[in-house]
Amino acid sequence: KTLKDLGDLKGKRVLVRADFNVPLDGTVITDDGRIKAALPTIEELRKDGAKVILMAHLGRPKGKVVPELSLAPVAKRLSELLGTDVVLAEDTYGPDAQAKVAAMNDGDVVLLQNVRFNPEETSKDEAERAEYAKKIAALGDVFVSDGFGVVHRAQGSNYDVAKDLPAAAGLLVEKEVTALSKATENPERPLTVVLGGSKVSDKLGVIENLLTKADRLVIGGGMVFTFLKAQGYEVGTSLLEEDQIDKVKGYIETAKANNVELVLPVDIVVNKGFPAGDTPIDPQVVPADQIPSDMMGLDIGPKSCDLFHDKIVDSKTVVWNGPMGVFEIPQFAEGTRAVAQALVDATKAGAFTIVGGGDSASAVRNLGFPEDGFSHISTGGGASLEFLEGKALPGLTVLE
Ligand code: 3PG
Repeated sequence: KTLKDLGDLKGKRVLVRADFNVPLDGTVITDDGRIKAALPTIEELRKDGAKVILMAHLGRPKGKVVPELSLAPVAKRLSELLGTDVVLAEDTYGPDAQAKVAAMNDGDVVLLQNVRFNPEETSKDEAERAEYAKKIAALGDVFVSDGFGVVHRAQGSNYDVAKDLPAAAGLLVEKEVTALSKATENPERPLTVVLGGSKVSDKLGVIENLLTKADRLVIGGGMVFTFLKAQGYEVGTSLLEEDQIDKVKGYIETAKANNVELVLPVDIVVNKGFPAGDTPIDPQVVPADQIPSDMMGLDIGPKSCDLFHDKIVDSKTVVWNGPMGVFEIPQFAEGTRAVAQALVDATKAGAFTIVGGGDSASAVRNLGFPEDGFSHISTGGGASLEFLEGKALPGLTVLE
């Protein structure tokens, strides 16, 4: 169900679950992509004359009030972006939330305080969660689920509350599902999946699901060293998941058996340890099969950048999740930059390109790439991965 299914919303109290789980440096938001992504739904509801009551989590406060995880910076940024005052309630469903909601006029926006300050929000006890959700639901007339980044969770404010009120997906959730489905259901081929990030173990489900569906799997990031090791190469002091080597050997076999092209880096940027404290930044490029025993791989090398670029540009659909290296340090950001640029070039050439959320989405924005260089930048981290894994996501199924 989508917004249209909720009928005339003029004067209605619309509870919207958004994902405002943004990276913070103190109280400074370092990437406001998720806040911007929520604007179309909020603006649409205000245009319809609804009272917009926003709910969101920030971080993992584990059911306690953690002042550093207050949504105050989000309320401030939202006010700037919407050009209207966004009132922050001090609690999620308590007396302050009730008073602030009661005082709303049509078109007003209230943001309820971090839902995860309440232990019931993430409780495993369904009855406890359901009772809590009813208290939240009492604040609204209808519910809109627009926090795509949390649809893989069954929590009070995004799942249980949908059972208590007429509920529908917001514009962001609709857009995300449409875009990600384009890559998973009958994608235009060749379909290239680019995976990075530190751990293979975070990506097992995606690799397993896409290994038989993609035409090409391009691997970089910290997880690549487990692939290199599985091929019999030494990886020095690079990140390695010993317990995943056998599984990865199996993936290499499955890829061969299914005619899926597995593309690994041919060169690696190494450093004598992770640059921090006494360890200086002194990058060197070595062939991927000759990583010295005392060196740590921190990015893919220039030849790999060219190789990955060619493979990505030669695709009709590209899905990318996970940085290629330690992109926060400029000397190890080139691989991630090259992959982002390759997606931009592929988009220009007519391919449908998706940047999976989390770190890769932040990386793309922080490296200065324009949003419209890609067909879709997902706001989901875990959610987009689980979507690509083909799992049923509770926050979506509850809306059906
Ligand atoms: C995310 O950042 O991926 C979402 O906001 C979900 O957060 P969580 O992993 O803490 O549930």
